[in-house]
Amino acid sequence: MAATGTTASGESAFYVTTPIYYVNDAPHLGHAYTTVAGDVLTRWHRQRGEKVWYLTGTDEHGQKIMRTAEANGVSPQEWCDKLVEEAWKPLWEHLQIANDDFIRTTEPRHTDRVQEFVQDLYDKGEIYKGEYEGPYCIGCEEYKSPGDLLEGDLCPIHKRPVEWLREENYFFRLSAYGPRLLEHYEQNPDFIQPASARNEIVQLVKQGLQDLSISRSTFDWGVPVPWDSKHVIYVWIDALLNYATAVGYGSDQAKFDATWPANVHLVGKDILRFHAAIWPAMLMANNLPLPRKIFANGWLLVSGEKMSKSNLTGISPRDLTSHFGVDAYRYYFLRAIPFGQDGSFSWEDFSARYTSELANDFGNLASRVAAMIGKYFDGVLPEAKDAGPAEQAIADGLAAAVAQADTLIGDNLDFAGGIGAIFDFVKQVNGYLSEQAPWKVAKDDSAEGQARLATILYTAAESLRAIAVLLHPIMPTTAEKLWASLGAEPHLGALADQRIADLATWGRLPAGAQVVKGEILFPRLENA
Ligand code: ME8
Ligand code: MG
Repeated sequence: MAATGTTASGESAFYVTTPIYYVNDAPHLGHAYTTVAGDVLTRWHRQRGEKVWYLTGTDEHGQKIMRTAEANGVSPQEWCDKLVEEAWKPLWEHLQIANDDFIRTTEPRHTDRVQEFVQDLYDKGEIYKGEYEGPYCIGCEEYKSPGDLLEGDLCPIHKRPVEWLREENYFFRLSAYGPRLLEHYEQNPDFIQPASARNEIVQLVKQGLQDLSISRSTFDWGVPVPWDSKHVIYVWIDALLNYATAVGYGSDQAKFDATWPANVHLVGKDILRFHAAIWPAMLMANNLPLPRKIFANGWLLVSGEKMSKSNLTGISPRDLTSHFGVDAYRYYFLRAIPFGQDGSFSWEDFSARYTSELANDFGNLASRVAAMIGKYFDGVLPEAKDAGPAEQAIADGLAAAVAQADTLIGDNLDFAGGIGAIFDFVKQVNGYLSEQAPWKVAKDDSAEGQARLATILYTAAESLRAIAVLLHPIMPTTAEKLWASLGAEPHLGALADQRIADLATWGRLPAGAQVVKGEILFPRLENA
């Protein structure tokens, strides 16, 4: 886990969350998609110099987990412990996820606070006892409306039969919150993103919300309802509260005040309703501030269907990282699919982008420039003595790329657009080198020729200085290699300490830096 930013205390953190995932099985590409996106977003904000808090974790209660554990002949807690330690945490480490905390809903720091929260609602009269009857999908851990089911009473997401449940439950007066929710959506147009997600929720809430069943009494794997131990708290109420309990709600007020509200809850669109309607209503009911933004990513699809455990066709994140490497993996999904839209994974598309964008456009640029500085200047970065319009165009291109990438990635979560802006700049630098042809200029021994050669190579290396920083949040290991190859650290400090706001200032990498041709950043792919 990475340390948090070193900014002045008292400043409130840029707080980003992922969903807490069900641990009935190991993580798959879909889980990694949301988690990598959050990691890039938080690393971007760290690179801005902001204080950041990035939270992920696991959702461990409920019937789905209980049944999986039973089927495997172990207790639910043993099952969760094993999956968390052997599958979930190791994958996040492997993918270089720099989360600041990892919350598990079976931890007392969470369960105690969940009981207090629900008790508070009960004391305020927000919860009452009633009876519920309806179809329930264990995959979703959710009651469905009969009208939403597919033919044969199948869940529209899991395509598996629902179960008909009828039980005595406690209910939260969710229906009362419709008008306040609509008012909040109205006054905060960016609260739910993208626009398609916002429209969906506004429609849903306008149709009228029903009170929500918040307890279950037919099984016991959950947090007991404090005033009635025959019931456990509905797994979604338990799970949503993680975002508050993990940052000190009810236990560490100073930390809570410095972190809450979340700046962005990242979720998949399958669980949008819980985050954009139910969770805000729960917070309103207990007079807590609402998160600033809920962003719903689209679905990674396999043969046109949401990628899930049952249809994954056997590709795991590690199958891809062992072939393409971790950094290319982090890059690919965010680059290839506009964030917020659905997209299909394709091995061919990944290979094509790896080769053309990462290996050819970017990797070759880095190695060619280092090689030429080695060959013509013994690896000592020369001074740019005769910079002219061509060099000014590169400096301008950099300024534009930095401004665009910062807005698109840091503010809009448009990762594909932001990475596109960075790679347009990479292309611009490649175009500059083709035009200036330093390998030809090198043959001119005159003082003028040598000055030109120095200027061209300085310009390319200085461009790479900024590219290393821009790519650091996306491809941390590769960016570090480039930073080392440019010999930047002795002059400019650690890569993590470079600030986005300084990037477009031209001429930061000083002449005299020791440039070395490091290892190839993106080696040719083995045949798949
Ligand atoms: O829903 N494409 O957990 P979960 C894109 N425990 N993203 C995907 C995806 C796909 N094909 N498949 C999964 C739960 N995801 C609850 C959450 S939060 C308080 C409780 C991602 O294990 C996406 O973020 O089913 C989705 O919302 C999440 O994994 C669901 O993970
Ligand atoms: Mg799910």
